[in-house]
Amino acid sequence: MGYDWRIGESLPDLGAHSVAKHDIFEQYIKIYIERLTRNPSQTMLNLTIVDGFSGGGLYRRGAAEVDGSPLRLLAAVENVERELNSARAKGFDVKADFFFVDANPYHVAFLRDLLEKRGYASRLGKNIFVHEALFEDVSGNLIAHIRNKGSANRSLFFLDQYGWSDVRLQTIRSILATLKNPEILLTFAVDALIDFLSVKTADAQALLNIDLDREDVRALTELKTQAGWRHLIQNGLYRHVQSRTGARFYTPFFIHSVGAHRSYWLLHLSNHRQARDEMGKLHWRLKNHFQHHGGAGFRALGFDPSKDLRQEVMSFMFDDDAMKRSEAAVLEQLPRMIHAANRDGTGLVVEDLFAGNCNDTPVTSDILSRQIAFLRDEGELLIVAPDGSKKPRTKTINWDDRLVLPAERSLFTRLGWG
Ligand SMILES: C[S@@+](CC[C@H](N)C(=O)[O-])C[C@H]1O[C@@H](n2cnc3c(N)ncnc32)[C@H](O)[C@@H]1O
Repeated sequence: MGYDWRIGESLPDLGAHSVAKHDIFEQYIKIYIERLTRNPSQTMLNLTIVDGFSGGGLYRRGAAEVDGSPLRLLAAVENVERELNSARAKGFDVKADFFFVDANPYHVAFLRDLLEKRGYASRLGKNIFVHEALFEDVSGNLIAHIRNKGSANRSLFFLDQYGWSDVRLQTIRSILATLKNPEILLTFAVDALIDFLSVKTADAQALLNIDLDREDVRALTELKTQAGWRHLIQNGLYRHVQSRTGARFYTPFFIHSVGAHRSYWLLHLSNHRQARDEMGKLHWRLKNHFQHHGGAGFRALGFDPSKDLRQEVMSFMFDDDAMKRSEAAVLEQLPRMIHAANRDGTGLVVEDLFAGNCNDTPVTSDILSRQIAFLRDEGELLIVAPDGSKKPRTKTINWDDRLVLPAERSLFTRLGWG
């Protein structure tokens, strides 16, 4: 399946799952910029936005024409800038550079024409750059550009490839290792990759692009004999992507594509627990089109091969039911986790609890905070601020608070040991 843009010809159709993806792109930019502009005296933010697989930029959806990722990204920045500008006494300026890259000359011509028609002509070549190139061929220059702009390196990479092999994991690794604050949104057709995996294909260049060698392929395909094998392979691939890109944090969630009969990953890769948390919250807010192929609480991907995850997997859609199950699971898991971490008596810092467990799970800091407060109200734990004071009532749990077992109860009653 592919999209095709040619000036004067009919537009490609946009599926509901792609609209959901564009919503994530647009809303994440808003969240990202708001997160970086909390200081009320700040008047400016420098940022680079890379759309590495931009397409032609316009689709048909029913009777309507709808914008593709380049226009959605531009609009997202304009909207937040407008809001910040009117909210701040001294105004606000988001100095964003946009790079739109596409390998297809017709798509690039279509996009240039579209940007001109939408009033962006004067910005082309100044802070909007359209490149006809393979993303891989320009990634080094893009990294250099971002580094040359200053020391903060604020950058978002939207890498919306068709399949799974057009972005080398090594390239993501160098983005994450070279730049200070990059975040990457990568579409990855994991089911197509799983179907492609076989000992026969083990030497294909596509697999080498994602650093899967003959042995890796053998280990993954061997899982095919076990119950729930597709999920086991997916889990193996999460680990692989994380270790080869060096990303501290990732989201393991899918976009559900009814039309394509396949789900694909929308991976968010970053080195920031807050970035990870915000992306998790966004999935809950947008729901419907997103799926989590795992359980409801922490350690949700079930790396335990003896467990067949298919039951839970089918129904986790970030809806109200999933929320109830997530809250219940956290309530069940937290006592054990805090107890295990409290063996030396120093307590468990909330940040460590979250950062150490957030990758595999749909649990966000909001869900976690509510359940911590609930257990505190039940007398199961104490919340202690960094200055040593106890927090007996607050609903606001901070990252640097510690969770400590009360002295008068050596064990959690919830564990059935009290
Ligand atoms: C899925 S479409 C992009 C859709 C677009 N991001 C959107 O959401 O509106 C993928 C695009 O990537 C382009 N493409 C394919 N391989 C590429 C590569 N290696 N580097 C850059 N662009 C590529 C194709 O020409 C196509 O326009």
